[in-house]
Amino acid sequence: MSASAESTNATPYGTLPPTAAASARKPISLPRLLEMHARGEKLTMLTAYDATFAAVADAAGVECILVGDSLGMVCQGLSSTMGVTLQTMCYHIESVARGLRRAQATAWLIGDLPYGSYHESREQALRSAAALMQAGSHMVKLEGGGWTADTVRFLVERGIPVCAHLGLTPQTVHALGGYRVQGKTQESAALMKRQAHELQDAGAALLVLEMVPAALAAELTRELTHCATIGIGAGKDTAGQVLVLHDMLGINLGKMPKFVRNFMTGAPGVKEAMQAYVAAVKNGSFPDNTQHAW
Ligand code: KIV
Repeated sequence: MSASAESTNATPYGTLPPTAAASARKPISLPRLLEMHARGEKLTMLTAYDATFAAVADAAGVECILVGDSLGMVCQGLSSTMGVTLQTMCYHIESVARGLRRAQATAWLIGDLPYGSYHESREQALRSAAALMQAGSHMVKLEGGGWTADTVRFLVERGIPVCAHLGLTPQTVHALGGYRVQGKTQESAALMKRQAHELQDAGAALLVLEMVPAALAAELTRELTHCATIGIGAGKDTAGQVLVLHDMLGINLGKMPKFVRNFMTGAPGVKEAMQAYVAAVKNGSFPDNTQHAW
């Protein structure tokens, strides 16, 4: 069978096409992301944990795919992200990277460093980050401020792009006393600001702000000139937005977090729901500060 005849065949089991047309989009690189931000274009990020969803997200125009350790709760049924191992992260990152390669996709792939894989020392963090990069990540993400700045600098100096994460940091949910908005008091807001600047100075290129008051996230977004903020429950004025895939597809049997919109509502399929998410983030209609923010 010729390659063109083969490519017209339906593919079983929801897998990727045997031959995919090259994407019309240029590969997303870190400089491209930062240029988009500098031009005022909103950045879009979604989590994905497998080959097919990652390829569909790419085809829908999502720029950044995060293999988040939320996979512990979404895919593994854990009650928090703390039980996710480095080995499990590598497995999912490899699957996503393979899916993106097969689909000739162009998204920027971020891998989460799981709890305990970067806390001992900068050297341990480098070994763990190297494993995620070898699995196919373009960038690693780690949670927390203060002590992490030194680790971020160590990784960035060794050629590993880093996305930091402040606000509600799920790996420390027990210390925080639950999934609560962070930075509500003057003191905690001042601490978050100091930590955000330290992370930027250490070389973090992206900063996830999770469950942070919209006004504080907007202020941080204006102040950080070399680090693009990506909000989740942080209002509409961050440089970009991220959602957990299953939440934005309405696959959540628990109470949907306030900051989520179910993009499957009115969409004929998953790709269209993701396209609606990209469009809503780009045109500023999601999130809506009157509904999705604090
Ligand atoms: O693990 C994850 O999916 C995350 C996002 C919620 C930002 O950290």
